[in-house]
Amino acid sequence: MEISDFRASYLFDGITGEQLPEEMIKAMRSFISAENLYVSAAREIVTKFENLNSEFKYTYERNPIHSINARAKTPASIVRKLQRNGLQLTVDSARKHLTDLAGVRVICSYVDDIYRVKDMLLSQDDVTLVRMSDYIKNPKPNGYRSLHLIVTVPVFQATKTEIVAVEIQIRTIAMDFWASLEHELAYKLEEKDRKSASKELKACADEIASLDIKMQNLYNISISETESGIAPNKNR
Ligand code: GTP
Ligand code: MG
Repeated sequence: MEISDFRASYLFDGITGEQLPEEMIKAMRSFISAENLYVSAAREIVTKFENLNSEFKYTYERNPIHSINARAKTPASIVRKLQRNGLQLTVDSARKHLTDLAGVRVICSYVDDIYRVKDMLLSQDDVTLVRMSDYIKNPKPNGYRSLHLIVTVPVFQATKTEIVAVEIQIRTIAMDFWASLEHELAYKLEEKDRKSASKELKACADEIASLDIKMQNLYNISISETESGIAPNKNR
């Protein structure tokens, strides 16, 4: 089977047809049909965050969310992850074992906003929390900070309703700045520079965390002086 007959460049990300067994090409075909489901699930979650943000803006005259990004994991990336983990190359196996097929990243202004938008999302009836990892309270050894949630949300299709998992990362602008550059550097750094760079990166992450605390404190002072502000979120 020729792989050039269906969105090959997007799907295979540089891998050619001769390198792939027939059944993998078939599997990737079925990934495409599942992809729509994950795009829809991510869209559902994005809409929820957008609605919460605009309601919050109306009530408190500011946005807790700075920006939102969504992505569906590419089929090539799904296959790589399944192979890396020694899992079957099927859509069912991907749906069962990979919780990041749909991903949403929410960037907040302040640290307290992260927990506030998390609480607002999880209080919705159709959102179910599967797992939460708080890498803000417990940063990764390299300094990575972010609040990670795996939730499920129903996706209403023409003939059925599917319950779909979405991975959500919520972090501040400052945490996102660090994570973006750390991710980029990880690919670029030569082996010999890795050790000293990772020390520096950890130090940068800690400085950024203390900046976030300072900005949060400034914000708390600013709202304690205005009647329209809301009290800092103590409910974590
Ligand atoms: P993955 O197999 O990478 O998906 O890890 P996981 O399923 O064990 O989940 P984890 O919560 O560790 O990471 C999920 C996602 O968070 C990653 O795909 C990245 O987007 C992000 N992430 C986690 N750790 C780091 C890190 O050290 N640096 C950066 N830049 N991003 C990270
Ligand atoms: Mg993951």
